[in-house]
Amino acid sequence: MTHIYVLETSPKDTALSSELASLFVTGFQQLDKTASVTRRRLRETALTSLDEGDIAALRTQDGAMNAQQEAAIALSDELISELDKADMIVIAAPFHNFTMTALMRQWLDYVVRPGKSFGYSAVGPKGLLQDKPVVILSTRGGNYRSSEEDSLHPADFQTSYLRHIFGFMGLHSVSFIAANGMDMGPEAREAGLTEAQAEIDKVISALSHHLAPAA
Ligand SMILES: Cc1cc2nc3c(=O)[nH]c(=O)nc-3n(C[C@H](O)[C@H](O)[C@H](O)COP(=O)(O)O)c2cc1C
Repeated sequence: MTHIYVLETSPKDTALSSELASLFVTGFQQLDKTASVTRRRLRETALTSLDEGDIAALRTQDGAMNAQQEAAIALSDELISELDKADMIVIAAPFHNFTMTALMRQWLDYVVRPGKSFGYSAVGPKGLLQDKPVVILSTRGGNYRSSEEDSLHPADFQTSYLRHIFGFMGLHSVSFIAANGMDMGPEAREAGLTEAQAEIDKVISALSHHLAPAA
């Protein structure tokens, strides 16, 4: 049975990226009816900007901890274990300020953790998470299509950044599904959503080898 972990990173309760993630999951479940799903909504998670005490706790875990440090470690352990337990990670990732939402940025501070999700080796840093499919559904107000010369493509700092940071933790099998032009009027939005749906179908079909074997 495939266990799908959905991470919602938009601050909005009704988010387009979350809707696209649900479309992906529903499509996948049509092929693998036994696939189970758990959801983590960052807008409902007690993430905070790390202060000096949190950093000391998460980076060294030495000595006596105060209640805030214990809470930071407990949340970090929980978020990393959610990534560990999943067979497939689906991330609803709206484009904010040319990269990601503040919530996703904070989440990374909790999960990119030495000794837990990455370590240091003689040849440099090494990802400690087991590789598995990561599917990122990225909604963008503007157009960042790499295929169009007059697009904002050079300002797409999200795609390369997320590929790098997931690879840093050992998650190299990242598929990106972009919905461009979401805030550019009804026609552009429709075209972006149609394109995203076609990409969703393609990625599901490419991942079909992860389906449970037929009974
Ligand atoms: C704080 C903020 C920053 C944004 N920055 C960008 C940006 O840099 N480029 C862009 O194309 N759209 C930007 N947008 C627009 C969103 O990417 C777009 O509305 C997207 O569809 C939101 O997805 P969601 O409904 O899943 O949250 C921004 C929106 C907000 C609220």
